[in-house]
Amino acid sequence: MPPPSLLLLLLPFLATASMDMDFKCIAKDCGSEMARAAIDPTFWRSSKCELGCNDVYDEDTTPEKLVYQNCTTICALTYESQAGDDFLACAMNNDCVTFPEIPGECPMPEVSPDLSLATLAGEWWQHRGKNALWDCYPCQHIHSMFLVDDADWCAQTESPVGGPVQAPCWNYTYSYDLYVEDGTQYFGQSWQLPADTPAGEQIDIYYEYMGSYHNETWFLLDAVEDKYVLLVDCSYMNTWIDVGSIVWVRPGVVLSDEDNASIAAVYKAKLGWDFDDFCYDTHGDANCDGPASAPAPSLGERRPAPRWGKGKFPFWSKSTLALAEEIMA
Ligand SMILES: *[C@@H]1O[C@H](CO)[C@@H](O)[C@H](O)[C@H]1NC(C)=O
Ligand SMILES: *[C@@H]1O[C@H](CO)[C@@H](O)[C@H](O)[C@H]1NC(C)=O
Ligand SMILES: *[C@@H]1O[C@H](CO)[C@@H](O)[C@H](O)[C@H]1NC(C)=O
Ligand SMILES: *[C@@H]1O[C@H](CO)[C@@H](O)[C@H](O)[C@H]1NC(C)=O
Repeated sequence: MPPPSLLLLLLPFLATASMDMDFKCIAKDCGSEMARAAIDPTFWRSSKCELGCNDVYDEDTTPEKLVYQNCTTICALTYESQAGDDFLACAMNNDCVTFPEIPGECPMPEVSPDLSLATLAGEWWQHRGKNALWDCYPCQHIHSMFLVDDADWCAQTESPVGGPVQAPCWNYTYSYDLYVEDGTQYFGQSWQLPADTPAGEQIDIYYEYMGSYHNETWFLLDAVEDKYVLLVDCSYMNTWIDVGSIVWVRPGVVLSDEDNASIAAVYKAKLGWDFDDFCYDTHGDANCDGPASAPAPSLGERRPAPRWGKGKFPFWSKSTLALAEEIMA
C-alpha cells in the first residue's frame, strides 16, 4: 500500500497479540546484535515506548487493534535506531521471534478489464482510504510513476517467485507523512514495479523488508481518466494478511456528486463496502510539504516501517527497563 497504502505493508509486524521471543535462539544467533542494541539509549527509549502500548492494546476495541498499531508504529518511528533494526532483523531472520497470526482473507474483486499499472502513471494524491490507520495517513502522494528501461535498476527488486523485476519497469515514487510522537514525519521512496502484468489482471508486487520477502496484490477496480483510480490492495507476509483501498485523484481534482455516487456503487457491487466509511485524506500541494522541506528517509530502507513493537512488547520487563535507564543515566 503505499503506495500509498504501503502502510499496509507495515502490518505484518503489528501483531494483535504478543509475539514470542526465544532467548536461547537470540543468544546463539544474535548475540552481537543484541549487545549493540543493549548499549544504545535510543533502543531503550523505543522499548519503553513500546511497553506503554501494551496498555493501549487492552483498551483498543477496534477489530484490527488499529489504535494499538498506531501506538507501536509511532514508537518505532520516533525511536528508530540502526542497532535496534539490526537486532530485530537478526531475530526475525533466525526465527527467534514468532508473530501470532493476523487472520484475514484477501478479497478477489473483479478487476476492470482495461486497467493495468499504466493507469497509475504520472502524479496522484490519495483522497480517501479504507483502512482507518494504514490508508489514512496524511499526504500520501505518488509523485511520479514512469517507465525506466534500465535492467540493473529494475533488478534491484526481486520477486521470490519470478526472479528480478524485468526492464522496462515502473519507477514508482511515493511519499506520505507518518505519525511520530510530536507530529508527523515525511517519508518517501522509489520502487521498481513490474510492467509486464497484462491489463485486467491482478498485479503482484514484491518488496524486501529487513531481509524477508513480502508481497502485495493490487486490484484496480475502476478509473476515470485524469480524475481518479480505485485501488484495492492486499498485503501478506506468512500468515499476516491485510486489506485496504485507496481512492487516488489527479492533482487538483475535486470529486463531483456523480463521481462519488459512481465510486460508492463500484465498492458496493464489487466488495460490498460502504464508501461512506472511508476516511478523507489531507492532500494537495497547498496542504502538504514537499520533499524539499522534509528530512530524508532515515535508514535508506525500502519501507519506513516500525521495526519494534509489532506485537505487545515482551522483550523486557518494566523493571529491566528501569534498571537499564539508571545505568545509562
Ligand atoms: C493515530 O495517531 C495519530 C496521532 O496521534 C492520530 O491523529 C490518528 O487519528 C490515529 N489514528 C488511529 C486510527 O488511531
Ligand atoms: C526514479 O524516479 C525518481 C523520482 O522522479 C528519480 O529521482 C530517480 O532518479 C528515478 N530513477 C530512475 C532510475 O529513473
Ligand atoms: C505472497 O506470499 C504468500 C506467502 O507469504 C503466498 O501465500 C502468496 O501466494 C503470495 N502471493 C503472491 C501474489 O505471490
Ligand atoms: C464527493 O466526495 C468528496 C470527497 O470524496 C467531497 O469532497 C465532495 O464534497 C463530494 N461531493 C459532493 C457533491 O458531495
